Amino acid sequence: MKKLYLIGNLKMNMTRDEIVPYLDEYIKVANGADNVTGICVPYVYLCKTAKIIKGSKALWGVQNMNSEEKGAYTGEISPKMLQDFDTKLVIIGHSERRQMYNETDESVNKKVKVALAYGYTPIMCFGETLDEREGGKHFDKVRKQIELGIDGVTKEDVTKMIFAYEPIWAIGTGKTATSAEAEEIIKYAKDIIANKYGLEHKDIIMLYGGSLKPSNAKEILSQPDIDGGLIGGACLKMEDFKSIIYTNVE
Ligand code: PGA
Repeated sequence: MKKLYLIGNLKMNMTRDEIVPYLDEYIKVANGADNVTGICVPYVYLCKTAKIIKGSKALWGVQNMNSEEKGAYTGEISPKMLQDFDTKLVIIGHSERRQMYNETDESVNKKVKVALAYGYTPIMCFGETLDEREGGKHFDKVRKQIELGIDGVTKEDVTKMIFAYEPIWAIGTGKTATSAEAEEIIKYAKDIIANKYGLEHKDIIMLYGGSLKPSNAKEILSQPDIDGGLIGGACLKMEDFKSIIYTNVE
């Protein structure tokens, strides 16, 4: 059986009264799972999450971080601060941050390298817009994001990363890439990394994200190069998240 990585991204959802019972339920689900699972929470719940998740099988982390250690960066959270919480995962370069907060391939690259230096597992997101796909530019876009995103990352470190292909047109839209479309790009992206470092596809962890839900999880996650999923909307309902976490594929 293939061991999958199924990571939830809570985005800017939940209040304290909601997240506590949610995490209580989540650790039960995670402890019973054969797959690897993790959850990326809003910063304000770092303390609560660290306490609730401690001792469970679940991985956890955040949805962004600054690449600087400290200083005059109003409103930002540094990699050093996250060390106080035993955080493992850091989503970097999510398309919502690239589009709404002007993150670039260069800033993503800087954050990836800093996250690795601090011992975190960066989940580096990449993916094309609908216009780019319809214009046949999706392969070029993905190549550029991957090449610039991992520029200067060592061979050893690249195998510690998690990559997530998230076509922007499929995020939160209910529109999912077909399993063939997702596999095609993920295979292509793994080829780029494998060729650069002399690695095999099995050495690279790459997830699919974009309207992943119980009804399409098995089909997508069964693809040979897809190692799991980054789950937004569907992780907000524990019943749906659990069903995805418990997906078994050969
Ligand atoms: P979605 O989000 O599952 O709601 O499409 C995925 C993501 O943005 O990581």
